[in-house]
Amino acid sequence: MSSGERPELGEVPETALWTLWHRAVEARRPDTVLDDPKAVELVERIDFPFAERFGASALSAQLQALRAACFDREVADFLAREPRGTVVCLGEGLETQYWRVDNGRARWLTVDLPESVALREQLLSPGPRQRYLAADATELGWTEEVDRDQAVLITTQGLLMYLPPPRVKALIAGCAERFPGGSLVLDAVPRWFSRLTLTGRMRSHDYEPPPMPWAMDARERGGLRTASPAVAAVRDVRPVGARGLLGVLLPLALTVPPLATHRPSVTVLDFAGQP
Ligand SMILES: C[S@@+](CC[C@H](N)C(=O)[O-])C[C@H]1O[C@@H](n2cnc3c(N)ncnc32)[C@H](O)[C@@H]1O
Repeated sequence: MSSGERPELGEVPETALWTLWHRAVEARRPDTVLDDPKAVELVERIDFPFAERFGASALSAQLQALRAACFDREVADFLAREPRGTVVCLGEGLETQYWRVDNGRARWLTVDLPESVALREQLLSPGPRQRYLAADATELGWTEEVDRDQAVLITTQGLLMYLPPPRVKALIAGCAERFPGGSLVLDAVPRWFSRLTLTGRMRSHDYEPPPMPWAMDARERGGLRTASPAVAAVRDVRPVGARGLLGVLLPLALTVPPLATHRPSVTVLDFAGQP
């Protein structure tokens, strides 16, 4: 993107700038929990009033980075088992995970809405093992573009909360049924947080996040099995390595109710293999 060019994005695609910004704020710290120089480089290249619009809360930045680190761990574990596997990133926005965890052999497929993919193409040219597809992830046409001869891991970081709940269920079922033996990593906001976004009471600086109609309290994750009989296992992924006061409070928040049951969560769904 040439200097002086400003991205014009709809309210949901704009959320990709929000997450990018927070990863970059965290990555600029010498004691960062997420090494992400590509995110720092991107926010320097994009002409957007990040700080004015989104603020620069160190807490939000660290939480955002810890969430990304949960996804990174799952992707890195997958690539250690399946070095030539395919990582499918639904709603990838301007996530820079490829530059953090790629192993030099895997294939990567990004699926996002047309305006988000256009921005990603401008800013992050795909390498030979990366492909960007402009499509609605819930419509499942993208599943035809994935090589079924290799293992598949699907990620939906920061995506599902923006979708209507029946679409989330159908997306999970569609993935489980089309990718036997695969896995899907998702994150969820808790119900109280979703309610704040739906009633316009979630505001930070100049920014009000779009409504998040899909939510799941951490204790409800077992219910994700009801999306499809092909969802074989459900696993919680917990943030590790938090810094400062958060490092003290997070282990408590993860184990002591009511926070433990009403917190944001990252979950892995493993799909049953071929019958
Ligand atoms: C909060 S951003 C998350 C971006 C990135 N995954 C991250 O964590 O930094 C949400 C992304 O989901 C995308 N998105 C929203 N609805 C979508 C849909 N139906 N299909 C594909 N992508 C969608 C938006 O364009 C945006 O890039």
